[in-house]
Amino acid sequence: MLYAIAHFLRDKLRWLWNFVECINAWLFSLRYGKKLKIFSFSGLPTGYEVTPMRDVPTDKIVEFFSRQPEEAFEFFKPHGFDMKSIKRLQRNRAFLGYMLLDTENGNIAGYCFNRCFFHGVGYRGRMVDVAYRGEGLGTAMNKLLNEVGFGIGLRLFETVSKDNVASYRSALSASKVKVVKEMPHNELYLEILPD
Ligand SMILES: CC(C)(COP(=O)(O)OP(=O)(O)OC[C@H]1O[C@@H](n2cnc3c(N)ncnc32)[C@H](O)[C@@H]1OP(=O)(O)O)[C@@H](O)C(=O)NCCC(=O)NCCS
Repeated sequence: MLYAIAHFLRDKLRWLWNFVECINAWLFSLRYGKKLKIFSFSGLPTGYEVTPMRDVPTDKIVEFFSRQPEEAFEFFKPHGFDMKSIKRLQRNRAFLGYMLLDTENGNIAGYCFNRCFFHGVGYRGRMVDVAYRGEGLGTAMNKLLNEVGFGIGLRLFETVSKDNVASYRSALSASKVKVVKEMPHNELYLEILPD
């Protein structure tokens, strides 16, 4: 229900979405800010480091999205990918976005996020750079999202299309999941369960 409302606001009533987003970020920060300050990741894939997206230059993030092929966005439309949209996400304290960096060359190898709500839920999403796919990074990023989300005490959810095989399998590989609802267009609404 909350998911449907959020999508309606985001797509149809942008000014109201922006207002709600500000209030949500403020309340989320009040409730979870201290826990996040002391949180650190333990399960990083070898050869990579993870950095909050707010610490990565905006143009580098925009460039990461612009070099992905069109098919990468078929099932991945969580927000805009232009400078303004990315800057907005970087400022949003309830949007826990992270970039996975290749330590050898500093390249962005992946992007993942928990979009969080102050009442204690987060929605996961991720994208792996096309040149780094199939190496387990999608699954690794799901684990990172679980680590931070469950670490601060959130319930985690995501929608995944059964047609997006890599995404569906990486969701299952990284976590125990419960199908909350079967949605139109072959989509599943999943709750991610702690191990
Ligand atoms: C979905 C995505 C993040 C997966 O990342 P990845 O690093 O390539 O995935 P992994 O290497 O961790 O593989 C995960 C699983 O998918 C399988 N897989 C990977 N690519 C696959 C493909 N093209 N076809 C079928 N299965 C595939 C792997 O074998 C693995 O399965 P297993 O755990 O049962 O062994 C990546 O494909 C992507 O960025 N897609 C575009 C954005 C997107 O759709 N995001 C998800 C929506 S939120």
